Amino acid sequence: MIEYWESRFKNEGAMWKFDPSDSAINAMEFFKYEKINEILIPGFGYGRNAKLFIDNGFKVTGIEISGSAIDLARTNGIQCTIHHGSVTSMPFDNKQYEGIFCFALIHLLNKRERRKFLKSCFNQLKQEGAMVLTVASKQTALYGSGKYISRDRYEIAKGLEVYFYDSESVLNEFSDFEMIDCRTIEEPVKFMKGEEPVKLKFVVCKKSKTAIPFSR
Ligand SMILES: C[S@@+](CC[C@H](N)C(=O)[O-])C[C@H]1O[C@@H](n2cnc3c(N)ncnc32)[C@H](O)[C@@H]1O
Repeated sequence: MIEYWESRFKNEGAMWKFDPSDSAINAMEFFKYEKINEILIPGFGYGRNAKLFIDNGFKVTGIEISGSAIDLARTNGIQCTIHHGSVTSMPFDNKQYEGIFCFALIHLLNKRERRKFLKSCFNQLKQEGAMVLTVASKQTALYGSGKYISRDRYEIAKGLEVYFYDSESVLNEFSDFEMIDCRTIEEPVKFMKGEEPVKLKFVVCKKSKTAIPFSR
C-alpha cells in the first residue's frame, strides 16, 4: 500500500490538482452548520481538500502515510500539522477533534483495519462532534474489476486494494459509530475533462453526549 502511494505521488505530483472534492465542500458546509472548527483529516494526501478547510478558517491536522505527499503539501504552502504514518497506528496525538473528514481512504484498508480505524476516529471525536467519510461504492464502474481478493474487495491496480460498499455493508460497519446519514453521491472528477463522475457513499456519524469510548 505505502509503495503504491509513494510511487504515485513521487511520479505524478499533485495529480488531482488543487480543486477540492464536492464531498469536502459539502462536509465543510455541514461542519459550519454544526459550529465545528477543528478537524482531523486522515488520508490527507497533498492537501487538496485540507486547503479548502484551511482557507475557510478551520484548524486542520492531517495523517498521511506517504512522505512524498507531505512534501508536496509543504511545497504548496500547506503548513498545518501532518502526522506521517498509517491510520492503523492512530492515535498520533491525544487531542479530541470537533470533526473528522476522510475522503477515499477507509476502503483501502482490510476488514480488521477498517474497524480499528473507525474506533480510533470515534475515540478522537469530541462529544457532539461529527465525522464525514466518503467511501467507494459498489455502484461505481470499477466494482468487480481487477483481481478478486475477498467479498467486495478487489486489487484494481497493482498494489491498490479496494473494498466496495453497498448500503448493507455501510450499515454493518458504521452503525456502531452513531451513523446519522448515508447517501450515494456522484463525485465529479474535476481534474480530468469529460470524465464520468464517480459514485461514492457519503457517510455521516455524529457522536452523542453520552457516547462511551471504544477499547482499542
Ligand atoms: C485516494 S487518496 C485520497 C487523498 C486525499 N484524501 C484527497 O482526496 O486528495 C488516499 C490517500 O490516503 C493515503 N493513505 C493510504 N493508506 C493510508 C494509511 N494506511 N494511512 C494513512 N494514509 C493512507 C494515501 O497515501 C493517499 O494520500
